Formats: sequence, C-alpha cells, structure tokens
Amino acid sequence: MAVDAPHSRVLGRYATWAGHRDTMNKTSQPESTESRYRRCTEQLAARGQDHVLRWWDDLGTSAREHLLSEIDSIPWSHLDPLIETHIRNRPEDEVRANLEPAAVFPHRPDADSAALYRGAVVLGDELIRAGKVAAFTVAGGQGTRLGFEGPKGAVTISPVRDKTLFQLFAETIMAVRKRYDVAIRWYIMTNPVNHRQTAGFLEDHSYFGLPPQDVVLFTQGMLPSFDLNGKILLEDKHRVALAPDGHGGSLKSLVASGALEEMASRGIEIISYFQVDNPLVRPFDPLFIGLHAKTGSEMSTKVATKADDFERVGNLCMHEGRVVVVEYTKFPDDLARAKNPDGSRRFDVGNLAIHLLNVAFVDRIIAQNFELPYRRAEKTVTWMDENGFQRTPPTPNAIKLETFVFDALPLAKNPLLLEVDRAEEFSPVKNAKGVDSVESAICHQIARAARWLEGAGVTIPRKPDGEPDIIIEIAPSYARNAEDVKRRVTNPPELHPGETIYIS
Ligand code: UTP
Repeated sequence: MAVDAPHSRVLGRYATWAGHRDTMNKTSQPESTESRYRRCTEQLAARGQDHVLRWWDDLGTSAREHLLSEIDSIPWSHLDPLIETHIRNRPEDEVRANLEPAAVFPHRPDADSAALYRGAVVLGDELIRAGKVAAFTVAGGQGTRLGFEGPKGAVTISPVRDKTLFQLFAETIMAVRKRYDVAIRWYIMTNPVNHRQTAGFLEDHSYFGLPPQDVVLFTQGMLPSFDLNGKILLEDKHRVALAPDGHGGSLKSLVASGALEEMASRGIEIISYFQVDNPLVRPFDPLFIGLHAKTGSEMSTKVATKADDFERVGNLCMHEGRVVVVEYTKFPDDLARAKNPDGSRRFDVGNLAIHLLNVAFVDRIIAQNFELPYRRAEKTVTWMDENGFQRTPPTPNAIKLETFVFDALPLAKNPLLLEVDRAEEFSPVKNAKGVDSVESAICHQIARAARWLEGAGVTIPRKPDGEPDIIIEIAPSYARNAEDVKRRVTNPPELHPGETIYIS
C-alpha cells in the first residue's frame, strides 16, 4: 500500500496545525532540543500541564522530537480561555430566546416561484459548466460510532458492487465532468491521523478514474483532549491525545492549506460541501447552485422536514435576524412541540449538513478572524495513566473541543435554505448497526433506485411490506437522478422478485 499520493495534489501536509499555530519561534536558526524542552516545560508549568513531559527521561530522540512538536503546536492563545470556560466549567447554556422559524425555499416551487426555479436550474448548469463549482468532502472525523478500521470513505456501501463511499463520490464527479465537459476539482479534508491512509487508498484505486491532479487532499487541525479536570490527556508517553477540531475547522484549514487560494486562482467560486458519510448526496445539483447564486447567498444549506418533534438533527431557526442552527440537545422542548394553527410543526426544518459556500465568503470570515464557537463534547478517549498503563474506560473520560461548519451561517449574507426530499439525498452512515448505519444506507440506496426506475415506467417487484423485492444499484455513470433514468429507459425491462441488478 502506498503511503502517500504522489500524483494527487496534497496540500497542507505540513500545514496541519497552520490553522491554529501560535506565532512563536520565528527565528531562522533551528532551535536546539534542549532549548525547546525548556521552553515547553515553562509553557506547560505555567498552565499546570507539566505532566505532559512526565515521561521525558524514558523517551528516545525521535520520540522526544515528536512530543515537543506536538506541544509546540498547541494553540495556547486559543485554548487558555477555553480550558476555563469549556473544560473546567460548562459553557453558559446556549439556549437562545426569541427563536423564530426560518424561511425555506420549498422542495416544489409554487406558482410564484416556478419561474425562479426554472431560471435557477439554467444558471446552476452554467456555473457547473464554467468550472465555478468544486466538490469538497469533509473526511477528517474519527468515525468513532461506526468503529471501522480505516477512513470512513473506504467503507463499502453500495448494494451490489460493494463500492466504497469514496468510489461513489468519485464516480459522481466523473459523471458530472462528462455531462458538462469540464474539469471538476475534488477537495478532501482529512485529519493528520487518517491522512496517509486516505491518500494511499485513493492512490491504490487510481482515484477511481479521476485525473489525480484534480483530487486535492489537505489536513485539518487537531486539538488536545482533556480529562474532566482540564488536564491534557496523553495517548502514549510521547503522544498527546489529539482529536480533530470539528468540521468547522474546515474553513480555517481551507485557507491555511492554500486550498482556498488555489480555488480562487482557478476561478472556482462555489464550494459544494458534503460529509464523507452520505452516499445519497447530490453535490452538483443545478437547482441548489442556481438558487444560491441568484439570491446572492454566501452560504446555503439543504434541509428536510423533521421526522418527529425530537428528531436528532440541528434545527434551523431565525435569531435576531440571522439564520442559526440550534442542536437538538439545546432546543427547548416547548419549541420542539410547538404547532402552527393548522397543526403542522412550527419548527420543522432539520439540517442535512449539505452546504454551498462562496470562496469569497470563506476568505472574508477567515481574513476577519471570525471564530466559530467551540462546543464541548464528552467522549471516551484511550489515555495513558500516571503508571504508564494505556487505558480505555467504558464511559466518557474526556472532553474534546470542536467547531461546527453550520455556525458560519449567521455570518453569511442572504443565507438560503432549500428543502429537499430526504429519501433522495440523505442517508448518513454513523453507526455500526440500526439507524444511520451501512445497512440502512444500503436499503435507502435500493429504495431510491427503485423509485427512479418506477418513475421511468419499470415495475418493481415489492414485498408485502412495500419494500423492493430486488437488490438494485444504479451507477452514477448511468444516472444521477430520476430524470436521467427517465431519459435513458426507453424500453422498460421486466424485473423478477429476488433478482440482483446493476445498471451502469
Ligand atoms: P460526525 O460529527 O458524524 O463525526 O462528522 P464522525 O467523526 O464522522 O463520527 P463520530 O462522531 O466519531 O462517530 C460529520 C462529518 O464531518 C466530518 C466527518 O468526517 C463527517 O464527514 N468531520 C467531523 C471532519 O471532517 N472533521 C471533524 O473534526 C469532525
């Protein structure tokens, strides 16, 4: 297995920490290990974190260097206040007063907006064809709940051919390249831990047919994990327990890695942001892209109506004239239950984590030093105790700090929310089993393919409970949506119960 991807563009390999790094040690003379050790000791001691160097005497030269570079990279100016507010204490309850429902562009336009939607599709097509839209996958998460060994994008997910998530995205991008006859750039954010594996996986699979130079990888920032008393946890004698700084870290890392600048230099204006765990995503949706551009939105989001009052999705709301996402854990029960006079849910808009962001918007907020708010998450982290035993406790023992990309929405001008049919576009792979798992994502892919075929006049064998009695997969090269299938199926085939079918 290759350890890196020499042909694809790998940005920011050495800028892993660039999004956070404190300004220090700018002299051109390399600093001696002794001097670094003294400096780090002082920094740590001043913060009551000197235990991080507890094993120094046991370490060899390279382990010492490694530990010092991790300590050097800790963004103290950021962390010092957060340790107090978010680790040693819980942040003030963020529940906001005066929340109002957010306005949403409906899935199907009404008579007044039909012309707008038609025009948007035309504009969206033009923007894609002109190469102004790039794909951006955030793949820097740890995938703890799924428990898969390796990057989440390497999970096999398609119903018939066992394609991986990365392959599905690559084939989708390839289909878009062919459809619009344009070179599409695919940016992938990894974290320093899964970066090499991700790059190696893509290289081993020849980028699934994409030109390697159009696949651009860069890493996100990491932050230390803390115990419940605010002490930095060690993962090993020479390693701090580090965790990625959340998908919100993508905005800083786009800049720090040079990816954003590269986008601008290539004339890319819109970043189509999606998560690595959603096999149903449509990253090049002309309607979404066209509406985003037509309405002058700087950041847009696809949303779906909630499955129930307390569904575990972020609630899109208006707060003091701005669009905000309120996590389900922070959403007041009375608002979750609130109904309109016609009985419909008052706050009914769930975040699907599918966004469009203008390159200029990301550039502006990072240049102006806007900080996305840090969130505190209690997690289970393997750590090394004071006796040098590595331990994995059964319950959360650590606090991680993360920022979330949706917290950029209140900073955006004219943010647009577009309602979509969840069954068509969203099936996140989070858990090993049950809800939001590989299994459920496979069922959703089959169900979607069946609907597309039915829309083209094909009769789908169904079980008594209505589920398709057939295993079916449609390759992105054949169709990316129901309309594509309708166009291509001229002579509806007969399908038999229990059959397995791959359409490419
Ligand atoms: P999740 O919040 O679902 O986290 O990420 P996760 O890491 O995949 O899974 P758990 O919580 O550990 O089980 C949503 C998306 O954001 C990306 C993930 O890769 C996924 O695409 N992400 C998350 C990052 O890129 N970086 C992060 O620091 C966190």
